[in-house]
Amino acid sequence: MRTFAQRLMARPGDRGGGAQKLENVVIIDCGSQFTQLIARRVREMNIHSVVLSWDARRERVAEFSPKGIIISGGPDSVNDPDAIAVDRRVLDMGAPVLGICYGMQLLAKTLGGAVGSGERSEYGVTRVRRSGNSRLMEGLPDELQVLMSHGDRVTSLPEGFRATASTEGGVTAAMEDRAGRFFGLQFHPEVVHTEHGRDILRRFLFDICGCAGDWRLEDWVEGAVADIRRQVGEGRAVCGLSGGVDSSVAAALVNRAIGPRLTCIFVDHGLMRLNEAKHVVASYSGMGLSVRHVDASALFLDRLAGVTDPEKKRRIIGGLFIDVFDAEAAKIGEVDWLLQGTIYPDVIESGHRKGAVLIKSHHNVGGLPEHMKLRLLEPLRDLFKDEVRAIGRLIGVPEDIVDRQPFPGPGLAVRCLGEITRERLDTLREADAIFREELRRAKLYDGIWQSFCVLLPVRTVGVMGDSRTYSEVVALRAVNSQDAMTADWVRIPPEVLDVTAKRICNEVRGVNRVVLDVTSKPPATIEWE
Ligand code: XMP
Repeated sequence: MRTFAQRLMARPGDRGGGAQKLENVVIIDCGSQFTQLIARRVREMNIHSVVLSWDARRERVAEFSPKGIIISGGPDSVNDPDAIAVDRRVLDMGAPVLGICYGMQLLAKTLGGAVGSGERSEYGVTRVRRSGNSRLMEGLPDELQVLMSHGDRVTSLPEGFRATASTEGGVTAAMEDRAGRFFGLQFHPEVVHTEHGRDILRRFLFDICGCAGDWRLEDWVEGAVADIRRQVGEGRAVCGLSGGVDSSVAAALVNRAIGPRLTCIFVDHGLMRLNEAKHVVASYSGMGLSVRHVDASALFLDRLAGVTDPEKKRRIIGGLFIDVFDAEAAKIGEVDWLLQGTIYPDVIESGHRKGAVLIKSHHNVGGLPEHMKLRLLEPLRDLFKDEVRAIGRLIGVPEDIVDRQPFPGPGLAVRCLGEITRERLDTLREADAIFREELRRAKLYDGIWQSFCVLLPVRTVGVMGDSRTYSEVVALRAVNSQDAMTADWVRIPPEVLDVTAKRICNEVRGVNRVVLDVTSKPPATIEWE
């Protein structure tokens, strides 16, 4: 399967009207988990990159007139009889070549050196020591902390090469040839755990390859729009919008490309926060999207009545969502494409064979009926969240959507513990709005990954005026995270907690107690259900 970047550049000559000559770096993917991270690092330096599969022939690589070539790592062992190998002629194109991990071993073996299996593999952060002059690492400290993950090692350098760094155990950690064309790193310069990794890549791209670094995100948008037009042709597309940043940016981008031939469906399950559905729909119409707003809240609440088991809630919501979406999509008539806001962290690399990475994506909308035979359009699948946000800003997606905190698909259902009723949802919405308001007032909201209230299915005794109360409990939850895989609870100042708790008890009927969740993930999860 070709990546979006590959498709984007499928016809290099006619991109951007043909007049503009893009400066390209070709990344040859040998199946590393980090290939897209290399592409991202190159983008961060304002250089355009194209990811090609390991089996791309020289002619294919030449179409991009690469200023430089990077060969990624990969899970194979170069000595295996069926190990993947790059077309030998790619190395003779004249562009400087940087081999990373497996890429370095491939370079060494192809150019006449030898690779052996180490007695022990090196995985993790380790120290390497530089030796002699190096064009790639000029100006860097003598010792560097780097991330290694390999079993094999270069045991004999090709002729004309010298080792420029090695590990304490004597393994060659970096090599380059005297002519300054070939460079190898046994460690990963693209990950943050490698000290000066970016400096090394910068030296390769600017000083060695001579890149100018004048590529911009605007160019990406222009290229993506042109590519979507080519892909979709005269076809029609449908997408499910959730109010979240990924689906919204994907829709705005495709709207640029094919305008009214994109129909968006916003399924309102009645489980959004206070006034959220209204805001989201208004934002979408302000963006010029053609949106069908389906108010299915009565259906969802009806089917959720009496259900308290978290998994059962999720199953009901997921199933109903697909039914409602399908029914609405069927009204549109002939549709060819299903647009999804899949981004790179959603893409699970589920296997690797002969360098072909099998990719499985999270499907936010779920399956449409087979008979519709929709093809998937995923223009953001090579991008990271912050890049999607930057593109969103660039193409006019409103700030409140671009900056929106992640919100779970099942919405407030997983924050309204116990039975879901309209009354309990209203209670939760009011408390949640107060918490948000107070965090905003304290200028904390924008810096927090997720913050929300949870309504607990317990009642406690309280006192209000002269009366005894017996009411429900609200928990405050605020976490910071990079990727939602792990999270830390946020230390909100006591004054903010105090005013939030007072306001919730005074202003929200049916609540007489507020508690704070001080667990991180793990052991807890971010949501309570
Ligand atoms: P947990 O609770 O597992 O959540 O720590 C991790 C992140 O995922 C969000 N989340 C969901 N997002 N559909 C979604 O689109 C879901 O069913 C779902 N459940 C949890 C959660 O808000 C957090 O950001």
